[in-house]
Amino acid sequence: MLSSARVLSSAKSTVSSHRFQVLKSNQPLGSPDFAAALPQRKHRSVRVGASLSRNTDPVRWTQSTLAGLLAAGLLSAGSLRPLSASAAVSMAAAVDPKSVPTTKLNSGFDIPVIGWGTFGANDDLGTKATHTALAAGYRFIDTGVTYGNEGAIGKALKEELSSGKIKREDLFICSKLWSDQHSESGAYNAVKGSLKALNVDYIDLYLIHWPVTDKTGDKFTPPTEETWKGLERAVDEGLVKSIGLSNYSPEKIEPWIKDARIKPAVNQVEVHAHFRNARVREFAKANNIHVTAYSPLSSPANVKDMGMDMPNLMEDKTVLELAKKYNKSPTQVLLRWGIQNGNSVIPKSASAEHQQANINIFDFELSAEDQQKLSSFSYQAKCITGEGFGYSEKGPWHTYEELWNEPEPAQQPRPS
Ligand SMILES: NC(=O)c1ccc[n+]([C@@H]2O[C@H](COP(=O)([O-])OP(=O)(O)OC[C@H]3O[C@@H](n4cnc5c(N)ncnc54)[C@H](OP(=O)(O)O)[C@@H]3O)[C@@H](O)[C@H]2O)c1
Repeated sequence: MLSSARVLSSAKSTVSSHRFQVLKSNQPLGSPDFAAALPQRKHRSVRVGASLSRNTDPVRWTQSTLAGLLAAGLLSAGSLRPLSASAAVSMAAAVDPKSVPTTKLNSGFDIPVIGWGTFGANDDLGTKATHTALAAGYRFIDTGVTYGNEGAIGKALKEELSSGKIKREDLFICSKLWSDQHSESGAYNAVKGSLKALNVDYIDLYLIHWPVTDKTGDKFTPPTEETWKGLERAVDEGLVKSIGLSNYSPEKIEPWIKDARIKPAVNQVEVHAHFRNARVREFAKANNIHVTAYSPLSSPANVKDMGMDMPNLMEDKTVLELAKKYNKSPTQVLLRWGIQNGNSVIPKSASAEHQQANINIFDFELSAEDQQKLSSFSYQAKCITGEGFGYSEKGPWHTYEELWNEPEPAQQPRPS
């Protein structure tokens, strides 16, 4: 069963994406039956996030949406259930930010090995969750122009920095330009916009979010080299400390990296035990590029909301066994696996309890054997394929393979 917050967010994103008529009134929100009632999509797209970010007050929006669903008879009151005891997450202690290990980037700056992922934490919720993330001990915050929450995060940062509770130099802020901001001037202006929204005078890491622009056709234009020059200028002017990429395959980096004046410090890509992304990680290692693992818990809420048929890593038998063995939660085991791979991880949570639990991973270590167990799951598939916004019939990338430069994994049986 789901927490009430989770029920609310599930209802909200589902309704915004699929409209009312697809809902069945007799299914508990978020239950497998509820998911089955949604139109089946092979892959999810960013539409959920985009619709979330446009809603101004998530709590009021959700309350009125649920009231509307109840009034229209599309949802039964009994389908809203409180959090069950077994689903409750116990409060862990806050972590001393200084005890969080860091990794040296090729730019010379240090990146904490765990950051707070912010996708979907917007408006007042985003501001509140920024405060709770900082209180839990996170100093690395991952956002992006398209998340629509730089302003909400910036509001909290202003409050924290002006109160003197946190110093700017202790934070590691990462943001990303969106696909309509490519080109030299586009990238430079994107940085300026993010600085203003985030209320800071420099950003620690700025990424090109996708190897995708708003230009369609057969050619990828403007090429990454041009956009990169805008980011290099931002570094020269002290607006950004490190620059990097996200969702770039080796084939989309190789053609220009050797001539780049500043090398990409990071490639932020999907990595979790159900998608190890080994080829991209090996290329990164060989080129001294750090990998930040996004969706490190395999994005269970978004997968469910979009009706995708993918297993939830947090419910995997092996993960549950290891959680028991180490007296940790499944989430903590999965995040520990991520950092023991040498990656930084950016789990998203808007809940203070989950945020605290997720950062409490520095008091145990998975043995080499257990790390290997989690590295050998045969089920491998991306949660974020880019279908619709990364590749589509409009081009320049028409297929999964053209976007990622590797074949789409075949449909696989779910792990037992
Ligand atoms: N560069 C890119 O293209 C890209 C793409 C995707 C994601 N990202 C970044 O990576 C971040 C994380 O990825 P994600 O949001 O896709 O998925 P994720 O971190 O794999 O999973 C987040 C989900 O797990 C739940 N969760 C978190 N901690 C939990 C806990 N302790 N117990 C139970 N449930 C827990 C969250 O719910 P609650 O909120 O209720 O805790 C949320 O529904 C994003 O927020 C974003 O910053 C980047």
